[in-house]
Amino acid sequence: MLQDNHTINAAGHFCVGGVDAVTLAQTYGTPLYVMDEAVLRAKMRVCADAMTKYLPAGGMPLFASKALCCKEMYRIAGSEGLGADVVSGGELYTALAAGFPAEKLCFHGSAKTMDELRFAVSAGVGLIAVDNDEELQNLSRAAGEAGRTQRVLLRVTPGIDPHTFAAVNTGMVDSKFGVAIETGQAMEFTRAALETPHIALAGFHCHIGSQIAESKPFTDAADIMTAFMDEVRTECGYTAGILNLGGGLAVPYVAGDPDPDYDALIREVAEHLTARCAALHYPAPYVLMEPGRGIVGAAGVTLYTVQSVKTITGYKSYIAIDGGMTDDPRYALYGSQYTVLIADRAGEPKDFTADVAGRCCESGDLIGENMPIQTPRAGDTLAVLVTGAYNYSMASNYNRVPRPPIVMLRDGVPRVVVRRETYEDLVAWPGGCTRFTARSDAFSEKIFDFFGFSS
Ligand code: LLP
Repeated sequence: MLQDNHTINAAGHFCVGGVDAVTLAQTYGTPLYVMDEAVLRAKMRVCADAMTKYLPAGGMPLFASKALCCKEMYRIAGSEGLGADVVSGGELYTALAAGFPAEKLCFHGSAKTMDELRFAVSAGVGLIAVDNDEELQNLSRAAGEAGRTQRVLLRVTPGIDPHTFAAVNTGMVDSKFGVAIETGQAMEFTRAALETPHIALAGFHCHIGSQIAESKPFTDAADIMTAFMDEVRTECGYTAGILNLGGGLAVPYVAGDPDPDYDALIREVAEHLTARCAALHYPAPYVLMEPGRGIVGAAGVTLYTVQSVKTITGYKSYIAIDGGMTDDPRYALYGSQYTVLIADRAGEPKDFTADVAGRCCESGDLIGENMPIQTPRAGDTLAVLVTGAYNYSMASNYNRVPRPPIVMLRDGVPRVVVRRETYEDLVAWPGGCTRFTARSDAFSEKIFDFFGFSS
């Protein structure tokens, strides 16, 4: 099994956190996201404890909520003492609706709108990671209007390629995120921030990428960031109190993938950073890190029902499931690898190979190709492992497929924390908006008359 919380019971069924996955599928229906709360809390604690233990001026993980955004996740992160990274007005709204303390939020994004900036300022968001100069000016305006001074981090790109996968690399000079150190623009950005009214510069932020299994890319980033901070001190007389090193902690998706020890990794980063600051006679900063996948990825499993098994003679087999790219677009987007199994016969050998195909009208709607799995039958529960990150949060209603619920397991007891979407949800506002089309209401009326609908 891929994770310690994955077991097989006496019936030969796959269990998550001690709970029979076949029973979960029968009880809640499929597709179904299952999250093991013990696992995600344990990951939060490892990160929080390591940052407290190993950083001389302290530190805190911010849960990167883009990985799994729902009210319950903010409640859990809050109860573990974590902060959170939000990246849109929608995530910010969800966090606040869950009662998450605004001062422990860091608001990211490379294209924040004026409305979002006003919302964040008025909500009292603790830190806004400013991406570029235009945004700095907009934020100054928003803070001025509200009669406040907003604490900010500046997002800079250290020019690092963590050599994971291109779609999620963000720290290189040529990036849509932040401002580059290498070109001298980050220094200009810093000068501007120090001079801009209603802005209080609290420090710097970088995020180099995702699925990082070693400390090296982070220590490289720390080297570049501290050298930059030292230069800023010399040139602008400003000493940064906060260094945010971003997210990126890796999780294992398939056998053989590295399964990093987060405590050891954070310790290496902390020790390296501390030594580096000492060498520069720079006061140790308060450090933030933003694990998303590392917190929720391994805690999640998605369950589907096998609809049919199709073997094309001389070619290959397809297992058709009742979900797919609508609840997990990661294979279609990135070619991401997964481990799958038939939950009903999890102890049997994986003697079958197939493409696991989703239900959408797209050949590319796959969970994976040539996947080893137990011989499947229609009606079986198929489990895809390590789907806690960027599955629910990237789900869509393509082909008008309702999004699945999330069931959270605590001490063997399941509870629904996000309910299954219904067909009614699909036609409720705004999805069923009938009158407010881009054309006039009169035009809409005509169309509705034509089709015999009432508006
Ligand atoms: N902080 C910032 C500023 C980020 O942009 C991200 C992720 C994180 C933290 C969290 O990174 P993590 O610890 O989860 O690796 N949808 C892709 C991943 C996109 C990551 C975007 N930014 C996927 O499914 O793999």
